[in-house]
Amino acid sequence: MPERIAIIRGDITKQKVDAIVNAANSSLVAGGGVDGAIHHAAGPGLAEECRRLKGCEKGEAKITKGYNLPARWVIHTVGPVWHGGRKDEDEILARCYRSCFKLADQHKIRTLAFPSISTGAYGFPVERACRIALREIKGALEKYPNIEKVSVVCFDKKTHDSYLTISEEIPEE
Ligand code: APR
Repeated sequence: MPERIAIIRGDITKQKVDAIVNAANSSLVAGGGVDGAIHHAAGPGLAEECRRLKGCEKGEAKITKGYNLPARWVIHTVGPVWHGGRKDEDEILARCYRSCFKLADQHKIRTLAFPSISTGAYGFPVERACRIALREIKGALEKYPNIEKVSVVCFDKKTHDSYLTISEEIPEE
């Protein structure tokens, strides 16, 4: 596993990184899960700014300030809802990661933390999502040399174990 990728167990709202990624919904109105936790920790300014963004398409990403979070930025992305794998879910999830990295590069973000996008309320199978996430993160680190460190922050043990197991399959860079 490339050393610029870290897989950790924890709460993304506590990460001291340039930007954290939010698994949002297309309205960008705060939901539950990691979206709810980020909005709760950031405070009301985040919802205010999200309102002005007028939503976000699946697979796309938009950036806001981090407000009361330790992170300076929040990159909001909207993952696919799992419908059995026959509605381009894999490609949409991959596009989420690419959209986030493109914004991170544009904003000279050096350190970035991702949750496990779409594997909670949106029901995407965790192992399948891990493979897509780690493949896209590895590809992005090759494409964007200025990005120093990417953390995948897993909230629960099952997700953490899945990422760790699958990361063993990925060769050192
Ligand atoms: N830090 C890191 N990860 C977290 C945190 C947290 N504080 N809270 C939850 N998670 C994890 C979940 O355990 C899951 O592994 O984030 C992952 C993604 O789960 P969800 O938050 O449910 O996100 P997702 O599956 O993409 O569904 C998005 O849920 O909250 C709503 O508004 C959101 O409609 C959107 C949908």
